[in-house]
Amino acid sequence: MSEMKTVVQVSEAQIRFFWGNGYLAIDCLTTPEELAMMREAYDRIFQQRAGRAVGDQFDLAGIDEEGSEAALPQILNPSKYAPEMRDTVYRRNAFAIAQQLLGPDTVPMGDHAIFKPARFGAATPWHQDEAYWNPELEYTTLSVWMPLQEATIENGCMQFIPGSHKLEVLPHHSIHHDPRIHGLEVDEGLTDLTHPAICPLPPGGATFHLNRTLHYTGPNRSAVPRRAYILGFGRPPRPRATPRRFPWNEQKLAPRQERARAAANLEEPMVGQK
Ligand code: NI
Repeated sequence: MSEMKTVVQVSEAQIRFFWGNGYLAIDCLTTPEELAMMREAYDRIFQQRAGRAVGDQFDLAGIDEEGSEAALPQILNPSKYAPEMRDTVYRRNAFAIAQQLLGPDTVPMGDHAIFKPARFGAATPWHQDEAYWNPELEYTTLSVWMPLQEATIENGCMQFIPGSHKLEVLPHHSIHHDPRIHGLEVDEGLTDLTHPAICPLPPGGATFHLNRTLHYTGPNRSAVPRRAYILGFGRPPRPRATPRRFPWNEQKLAPRQERARAAANLEEPMVGQK
């Protein structure tokens, strides 16, 4: 697979599709060898519960109690804990395509990993990523979502609402309306969620989506774990002209934030959260 050492490019038609629909699916951004290496590193850091003490590892969909199995474990900045994930063909290709899609001032904005345990992993409800972030800033960013095995509708592949990137940030709430849960869900009845574009992918394929594109992944009903490795890229955020508030974040009581504060690790990644 030496051809993969060269940078993957997207076509003009793919760039138009991305800006028209708010997402784009690509078949392959890495090599089989690199994929095997990343899968091993990924499983290792989840087994080690890397980053939990400093709030980098937590349950996105549950109340995150010590000793209970997480329904949707997430690690922020996994490459901090697995340095072999830092300099990869995947990252170079994702960055090059992000620059093609967003422009030459695009910069890397962190990585995260979301693990859906076999037969147990919870759904990631419909949301816009920007709903997690600082309401005082204006964003043009994208997330690259790569499965480390095949992604299917049965194990929780990505689903998008085409065109939803043109919406404002819609009102969200904590999953189950429980402010102890980190994950967010868009409020009901605000927009039609019944005709998603469903994006199954081969191992090492990826989807790209914008900061306001509504997206969802189903529960993992399969016998294999679903590993997703996500990279963020974007233009540097700038202060917004018109103020806004995200009250759903002002109410958060997630134990993960407590652990992060206790570790005096107050720096939040700009795009590191899903
Ligand atoms: Ni997301």
